[in-house]
Amino acid sequence: MNVISKITDGNPYARCIQASKRVRWDIDEDVIRGRRFDGADKFLPDGLSLADGFTTLSTDEKRFVSQIQGCTYANIFGLVERFINAKILELTHDHWFGDQVALEALVRFSDEELKHQALFRRIETMVGEVLPDGYRFEIDPDAVAHAVLGKSTWAVLALTLDIELFTQLHYRQAIDPDAELSELFRDVFLHHWKEEAQHAIVDELEWVRHDSGLTAEQRDRAVDEFIELVAAVDGILQARVKADSGYFAANCGRPVDEAEARGIEAAFLKAYRWQYVHSGAQHPHFGKVLSSLITENQGQRIQAALATLQ
Ligand SMILES: [Fe+2]
Ligand SMILES: [Fe+2]
Repeated sequence: MNVISKITDGNPYARCIQASKRVRWDIDEDVIRGRRFDGADKFLPDGLSLADGFTTLSTDEKRFVSQIQGCTYANIFGLVERFINAKILELTHDHWFGDQVALEALVRFSDEELKHQALFRRIETMVGEVLPDGYRFEIDPDAVAHAVLGKSTWAVLALTLDIELFTQLHYRQAIDPDAELSELFRDVFLHHWKEEAQHAIVDELEWVRHDSGLTAEQRDRAVDEFIELVAAVDGILQARVKADSGYFAANCGRPVDEAEARGIEAAFLKAYRWQYVHSGAQHPHFGKVLSSLITENQGQRIQAALATLQ
């Protein structure tokens, strides 16, 4: 082991920089590679779309649901990465005149998040080419980012770590063998995960660092704000459920009666809450970091709030 690697081994920010350089990818050369989506493929794996929960649908209809959810996935990431990047840029301020290695790790993080937003915009457009007309995603990422950034840094970093850990689980779902899963979408999950793995480490470092400067009262208020953010995410998901199940019913090629429509909405809601809330909240590492920062009572408040989203 040489002197340089001994130094970086002891500095987690330096290790993130090294990993970020090693895995760096290009949208066209590495991910899209001139390919297009195929309407015969699933876009999200069954473990994320929770296809089995759409009990009244045929195999072809479940595939259509996975394509709608794939389009929403690209849009939701375009949305959350807007506020994540703004918060990371804000946090660089703490390192401007101090730890230049930490500063570089955050700048790389920000650069990658801008690239991810560009990737997800491309994916959204490409999915649009194979979906019937009429899919709309009318939530403004800047408006959401303004609202989220109105909460305390502690609360935003809690939500950010939650999100960046669940992208790792989403990748693991996507590499499960499934011949019907789009290879292009599989590559999106793979490449996103490669860079998000470093982001989750930086989130944790910054969250713990920021937490150490808070009073008990500030942290207690921040726990409530984290709960408010999770509720706001759920509000966005409920709006998507209405839009996406309506779009499905309008384009599936057969009548969907009221009772079936309610069942489809319930299945969409379960899938979206799994993808964007519970797969992160139940991540063992998220629970470990969170519980190291909060009291038992605060943990119970968070669990009680999550339990209302089942
Ligand atoms: Fe990302
Ligand atoms: Fe990220």
